[in-house]
Amino acid sequence: MDKQFEQYLLTSKDHAEKILLRYIPTEQGLQKTLIEAMNYSLLAGGKRVRPVLMYEAWKIFGGTEENLIAPFMAAIEMIHTFSLVHDDLPAMDNDLYRRGRKTTHAVYGAGMATLAGDGLLNFAFETALKASGRGHDDLVIEALKVLALKAGIYGMAGGQCADIENENAEDISDEVIEFVNEHKTACMIESSLMIGGILAGADAESVKKLETAGSYLGIAFQLRDDILNKTGTEKELGKPVGSDEKKGKVNYVAVHGLEETQKKVAELSSKAISIFDELYRNSGIEFAFLSELIKQMEARKN
Ligand code: IPE
Ligand code: IPE
Ligand code: MG
Ligand code: MG
Repeated sequence: MDKQFEQYLLTSKDHAEKILLRYIPTEQGLQKTLIEAMNYSLLAGGKRVRPVLMYEAWKIFGGTEENLIAPFMAAIEMIHTFSLVHDDLPAMDNDLYRRGRKTTHAVYGAGMATLAGDGLLNFAFETALKASGRGHDDLVIEALKVLALKAGIYGMAGGQCADIENENAEDISDEVIEFVNEHKTACMIESSLMIGGILAGADAESVKKLETAGSYLGIAFQLRDDILNKTGTEKELGKPVGSDEKKGKVNYVAVHGLEETQKKVAELSSKAISIFDELYRNSGIEFAFLSELIKQMEARKN
């Protein structure tokens, strides 16, 4: 890995981590166990891809006020973590291992893990709202709209619906698979990028470009996740392998095979990279970090 890229990635992840720590809830009161369960999953690690993408999009568009973007960086990771906690529940993917440790329901029970998800989703909005009252409420409202929409029934939750409904499906079209990947995964990547742009004051056309790039990148991200579920190791992934097949997940890999899927990952990644290359050219920023990050993610091992 290129030294400059490696350093940039480490610094960006560390920055996202520090911001998240600033906003986590205090474990106290009669709801202490719930807050502990929330923090257990939140602080278990994870690549922090979404806040890193958000911050970089914000920089591309010249963002300057860190106290506007920071609450949203924490919020997106809280929503993402909620989606993982619920995704792992016995009634959904029924997984016992995540981010290198036991899943939240395996430690706290399904009831408390359900509440931890509820708590994280709601606390995400409580956190994002901390960006308000600083003289940019128009931008904050726009960002909140995207945050809400992309996580909900027209976004991630909608995708999860189609995902579980199509388990063990005998016949599934590429359109349905694309709906699942676009909604359950790409929508959260899109919102990360769009919110970065919005809070930096990017115009509507540029925010649309970020959305399109997020869609390509997000679908590629999910396809690579599906490949790794077959070819990866639990040690590297920090979550189970082979579980998609066991659960009867009829994803792109199950229908088209590994090679075809990796080809699609490369195709979608190139499309996302050309959008970012153009955005970087216009920004005057010399190192196109996101273009490089997407290239690396094409062959990621975790
Ligand atoms: C896992 O997301 C779920 C998918 C959308 C594929 P990540 O791969 O970003 O998980 P963490 O945050 O690094 O644990
Ligand atoms: C990821 O779905 C999407 C969400 C959690 C919203 P998966 O079920 O494919 O992801 P992993 O493999 O459990 O991380
Ligand atoms: Mg799932
Ligand atoms: Mg899962």
